[in-house]
Amino acid sequence: MHQDVERVLLSEEQIKNRIKELGAQLSRDYAGKHPLAVGILKGSVIFYADLVRAISEPVEMDFMAISSYGAGARSSGEVKLVKDLDTKIEGRHVLIVEDIIDSGHTLAYLKKLLSARRPASIRLCALLDKPERRVAPIDTDYKGFEIEDEFVIGYGLDYAGRFRNLPYIGILKRSVYEK
Ligand code: PRP
Repeated sequence: MHQDVERVLLSEEQIKNRIKELGAQLSRDYAGKHPLAVGILKGSVIFYADLVRAISEPVEMDFMAISSYGAGARSSGEVKLVKDLDTKIEGRHVLIVEDIIDSGHTLAYLKKLLSARRPASIRLCALLDKPERRVAPIDTDYKGFEIEDEFVIGYGLDYAGRFRNLPYIGILKRSVYEK
């Protein structure tokens, strides 16, 4: 375990098993629908790469980048589009793939933006959900794990750009972000 990690919240094995279940569910729900999986950079990339490979149906891939204004660990509520999709989504089945839903601001913004383009459907798959932090009313259609309000890192999630490549999800030591 990394020295800055207080404890492992979700092991590689737990994540792998849950993704297998999500993949099976998505394969059934999207059978014959040729969905477009939209990964939200950067946090979702690790989850995204494992999730699409757990889906047995053909999946098209595209990415968006969003930035929230304001410094610190918490989303400010103001969201800006940094990179748009390359794909036209009118009439398509869109699956947004996120690493974590916290306040819900990012997803509320994204759903509004993408819904205006008249997709056939738009759903959300998030690995982690922190329901007690929710400000914007966002429902997660496919959810990996509900977690407590802890500072989580690894498996795509960062602190100041670090720890994304840890293969598990850990809780960051307070001493790291309080110094
Ligand atoms: C994280 C995460 C979501 C967003 C969730 O991204 O990937 O996009 O925050 O927070 P919210 O529900 O409060 O809006 P972040 O802005 O940290 O960027 P990153 O994915 O590049 O790490």
